[in-house]
Formats: sequence, structure tokens, C-alpha cells
Amino acid sequence: MTTPSDPNRVIIFDTTLRDGEQSPGISLNKGEKLEIAHQLARLGVDVIEAGFPIASPGDFEAVQAIAREVDGPVIAGLARAQAGDITRAGEAVRDAAKPRIHTFISTSDIHIEHQMRNTRADVLEGAKAAVAHAKSLVDDVEFSPMDATRADPEFTAQVLQIAIDEGATTINVPDTVGYATPDEYAEFLSKLYEYTPALRDVVLSVHCHDDLGLAVPNSLAGLSVGARQVECAVNGIGERAGNTSLEEIIMLLETRRDRLGYTTGAVTTEIARTSRLVSRLTGYAVQPNKAIVGRNAFSHESGIHQDGVLKNRQTFEIMDPASIGIDDAEQLVLGKHSGRAALKDALSKLGYELDGQALRQAFDKFKEVADRKKQVTAMDLEALVTDELRGD
Ligand code: KIV
Ligand code: ZN
Repeated sequence: MTTPSDPNRVIIFDTTLRDGEQSPGISLNKGEKLEIAHQLARLGVDVIEAGFPIASPGDFEAVQAIAREVDGPVIAGLARAQAGDITRAGEAVRDAAKPRIHTFISTSDIHIEHQMRNTRADVLEGAKAAVAHAKSLVDDVEFSPMDATRADPEFTAQVLQIAIDEGATTINVPDTVGYATPDEYAEFLSKLYEYTPALRDVVLSVHCHDDLGLAVPNSLAGLSVGARQVECAVNGIGERAGNTSLEEIIMLLETRRDRLGYTTGAVTTEIARTSRLVSRLTGYAVQPNKAIVGRNAFSHESGIHQDGVLKNRQTFEIMDPASIGIDDAEQLVLGKHSGRAALKDALSKLGYELDGQALRQAFDKFKEVADRKKQVTAMDLEALVTDELRGD
């Protein structure tokens, strides 16, 4: 991908379909992954990490379908620093307009000794061969030293130098186990810049996990010392406690642009819809008080707050709910007494124009849902209508 000319433009790399899908119990099929990928493209993310093609034939097919069908973002496939993985990732992303291979190998001694059971010399050799192989398949290669934040910065810098020499265009520094504190992460990245000046010629990326609730602050700390790509997942899903939450980092950069000065290419009004889609297809509910996309994120309980908001929303709201796509449609709730006109109107507010036979079928399904549930929400309506459009 071409590096944005604006020095403050932050590349949003979405890993919902890869690290996000590594959450316990989530397994998305090809159709579901495609649906999410199309929505991520509408949201304006710059890179979609579509999966880990060597992991299973299903994942390979999903990455390939996304590469073929989803326009706009770079489509990345993950690969360990192993020839077979890289070849498979290359095949999966080959048909994308903008393909990327993301390859990784651990640089921490704890991983080298106890997970990979090899040596630092093996890591240097493995990184070199992996990036060279990936580069022979695609121009756009990302390299990650896994568990970097628990690794020796000098050794990690040595590995990064090799990856850059072999043609890596993005260097991603993962806080794999969510252990770093923001000042420590920023210091680690600064050391990498100091030991590897060539890092200034590529995009530095941050990839943070939320084990201590610091994924977003750590990502921000990384930006403050020069990183310009943030890896994140919708609703913060991902391994263990999850990844940097996409909606939180985007709205942080958006809402506090006055202080931080960064820009993104995100269409923020698509955030709520994307969050609902991912929640529905993964089965992972969004906690009510989750920042940005939680049900309560814009509701006011105390009388003083309600009074203030009625007078002027800015009294207790730092973001306009409409800016993330929450509007009247969000609040609408239908029930078993609602008629076809109300359903048509509600669907239209959600962006679906249904008439004739399609509306009649949707209405029949709506009545079935309404019989089971007291209240039919925006998320229920979206599920119903996308099933209808898919012909389920
Ligand atoms: O957390 C991590 O280290 C990863 C790598 C594969 C980038 O997800
Ligand atoms: Zn990760």
C-alpha cells in the first residue's frame, strides 16, 4: 500500500477476521466473513487482515473470497515465518487489488526457548527467509516480531533490520500478551527507532492486547512516538481479553483531534452498524457500558444528566451519537402489534428499502420473531433482513 502523504494519517488495520476470530468459541464461515469484510470496507478501514490461510481450508477459502470480492482496503493474510504458510497466504491474497502477506516470528527468549525450541540465530535466519519469500509473492509485506515487548530490544532491532533489508514495508510491534504499560511501550518503540534507523523508512505499526485493559492507551502511546498503523478489532474481540478496540481508537482519534492531531479514513457513521453485525455473527454480546458501542454509552440515568442533555447535549456528551451512526433508528423498538408500514419505515431508517414480496416475507419473519421476543430491536431487524436478502 502506498504510504499516506499526510504525516498524521493513521492507517487502520482491522484484524477482526483473524485475531478477533481467535476468541474462544468464535468460528465464522465464509459467507459471514465476507459480510463482515464488505462492512469493514464501507467503514473505510485501510487494511483487512482476512484470516490465517494455512489454518484450515475454510479460512483459506474465506481469505481468497474476500481478496476477490472486497474492493477498497488492502487484503492481508497471516503466515508464520515458514515457507508453506507463506506460499498458502500468497495464494489466498493473490487476486486482491492490493494484496499483503503478514508474516511473524517471536523474538522473546521465552518464546524462542520454550515455544519454538530454537535459537536466536534460527530466528534471524527464519525472518530473513520468510520476508524474502513473501516479497517474491507480493510487494506489500508486513513483518511482526511476536512477543516483542518481552524481548531484548537490541535483538529485536537486529531482526527488524533484516526484515527491512529483505523488503518489509510495514513493521508491526506486538504487545502479544498485553503486558506493557504505555510509557514502557513508547520507550520500547523509541529504542527500536534508535537501534534501527531504517525503521523511519517503513510504516511502524502497533498491535496491542487488552489483558491489563491497556490496549487502547498503549496504541495511542505508540502513535505518539511515530507509529502510523494501528491494528484493532471491532468490539475489541481477540485472543484472551481481546485486541485494541477499533471503535475506541477511531473515536479517540476523531474526538480528540484538537489535541492529538491524527486523522483516519474511517467513515465513523458506520461504526454502530459494524459493531452490531460483528456481535450478531460472532455471538459475542457487547457489554452495556462498553465505550462507544455499548447500549448505555449514550444513555443518561440521573435526573441531573437527563436535564442537562435535554437543554444541550454537550453538557454530558462528548460525542454526537449520530457521528457513529446511532440515530432514531437505533432507538426504535417494534413489537408484535407493529404493522407492515411500521416495519417498512423501520427498515428504511436502517438503510434497507423493501417492497412487495420481499417486504411480505420479511413481515412474516418479523411476526415470528415478535412472538418469541417482547421487543424487536435494530439488531433483530438487521438479522432478519440480511437472512431474507441471502435467501435463508
Ligand atoms: O499478538 C500477536 O503477537 C499477534 C501476531 C501474530 C501479530 O497477533
Ligand atoms: Zn495479536
